[in-house]
Amino acid sequence: MDFALLWLGLLLPLVAALDFGYHHQEEMEAFLKDVAQNYSSITHLHSIGKSVKGRHLWVLVVGRSPKEHRIGIPEFKYVANMHGDETVGRELLLHLIDYLVTNDGKDPEITNLINSTRIHIMPTMNPDGFEAVRKPDCFYTNGRENNNFYDLNRNFPDAFEFNNVSRQPETVAIMEWLKTETFVLSANLHGGALVASYPFDNGVAATGSSYSRSLTPDDDVFEYLANTYASRNLNMRKGDQCKNKMNFPNGVTNGYSWYPLKGGMQDYNYIWAQCFEITLELSCCKYPREEKLPFFWDSNKASLIEYIKQVHLGVKGQVFDYKGNPLPNVIVEVQDRRHICPYKTNKFGEYYLLLLPGSYTLNVTVPGHEPHLTKVIIPKKSQDFSALKKDILFPLRGKLDSILVSNPPCPMIPLYSTLPSHSAATKPSLFLFLVTLFHILLK
Ligand SMILES: *[C@@H]1O[C@H](CO)[C@@H](O)[C@H](O)[C@H]1NC(C)=O
Ligand SMILES: *[C@@H]1O[C@H](CO)[C@@H](O)[C@H](O)[C@H]1NC(C)=O
Ligand SMILES: *[C@@H]1O[C@H](CO)[C@@H](O)[C@H](O)[C@H]1NC(C)=O
Ligand SMILES: *[C@@H]1O[C@H](CO)[C@@H](O)[C@H](O)[C@H]1NC(C)=O
Ligand SMILES: [Zn+2]
Repeated sequence: MDFALLWLGLLLPLVAALDFGYHHQEEMEAFLKDVAQNYSSITHLHSIGKSVKGRHLWVLVVGRSPKEHRIGIPEFKYVANMHGDETVGRELLLHLIDYLVTNDGKDPEITNLINSTRIHIMPTMNPDGFEAVRKPDCFYTNGRENNNFYDLNRNFPDAFEFNNVSRQPETVAIMEWLKTETFVLSANLHGGALVASYPFDNGVAATGSSYSRSLTPDDDVFEYLANTYASRNLNMRKGDQCKNKMNFPNGVTNGYSWYPLKGGMQDYNYIWAQCFEITLELSCCKYPREEKLPFFWDSNKASLIEYIKQVHLGVKGQVFDYKGNPLPNVIVEVQDRRHICPYKTNKFGEYYLLLLPGSYTLNVTVPGHEPHLTKVIIPKKSQDFSALKKDILFPLRGKLDSILVSNPPCPMIPLYSTLPSHSAATKPSLFLFLVTLFHILLK
């Protein structure tokens, strides 16, 4: 009999503090506050705003310096439950938090990750929607939208067409949050399908819409990122797991090829916030029974961790003037992959560019001065918890004033107004249109 007690005693410390069940706002807050208190040196809990009904939008940050950015440490984020009735991601992120904090200093991979990365985790972007679901349903419930009946994944500015919607408090909170950190990589967790979907979600002929797709200049990186997630999730990578839904080879798809949408969050992140974001659809059933949650955690844990590590792809560094002062607001881009809104150094003069191994030319430009071109070779094994580090000395002649004043803000909406717009010829095919009708309520 003492054996049983002994075993229990040995096992208890290993048992996660968090149970597998749905955590409503109050329980979720209690858990997050507990974590922030018990692991105060590596976590920082803060609210980025409030929902329509006044619920806090919590973000827990995990990192060696959780309260503030440190030079060279990239910022990563996960956001779940923006559709309040897509619930798996919400619980997965709570378990991810539990897993990260309890394995720090124990598991070398997690310790390295926490040492090298600042990880921002937002378990719910739509707490009102989650609480509004009266009867959990696999397909659709009122909880998808926020409390003003807006779909938050249609509520962002759109670069391809004018998105005339009233910006909701949850959306505004995210837009403001994105300005406060230099986020590099992100994923947005949904349910109702099993696929990793990458930008763009909207498009025009110039991005490939005549071929029923819409690709970014960083498409190689995005496909790699989506595959990194999908290939570690046994069901997702099979590609056709949800009955009557589309077949996704290897469990990945371009967002627009699946179906176009306007005002989505991933396009907004990539275009306006210099942050690569993909959309993860994690369960055929949007709101599964809670007995299924351990299965979802087991099948997503490796993917969730491996995806965070990808924030260390490519190259990073600071841009300095000849006196060694860091230069903010300098455009640093790879030649031939220019962004709609040019990616610029932050206030510490830092840049982060996610790139696969290969040889690239960086174009470093201070508006009003000659561009400075410099070669960089990203080695094959370049991501041992750090991107290749390359600081750049900008050979600046003359005055610096022009960059200290920040350049005109990018968003001229729509950014593609001068390009050929949607027309009959560039609309997706009838087949895609029908697919759209059936799938409009997923991502
Ligand atoms: C925090 O610590 C308290 C006291 O040791 C413990 O009861 C609780 O389960 C811990 N919670 C978490 C989330 O670690
Ligand atoms: C992680 O950081 C801690 C604290 O700064 C340090 O003691 C430890 O050696 C680091 N571990 C790894 C694996 O880098
Ligand atoms: C935007 O919506 C408002 C209110 O619905 C309407 O008055 C306005 O004309 C719309 N603007 C455009 C450009 O569609
Ligand atoms: C470098 O970037 C600047 C600003 O984005 C652009 O105007 C210029 O054409 C680019 N030069 C080259 C050689 O790519
Ligand atoms: Zn969704």
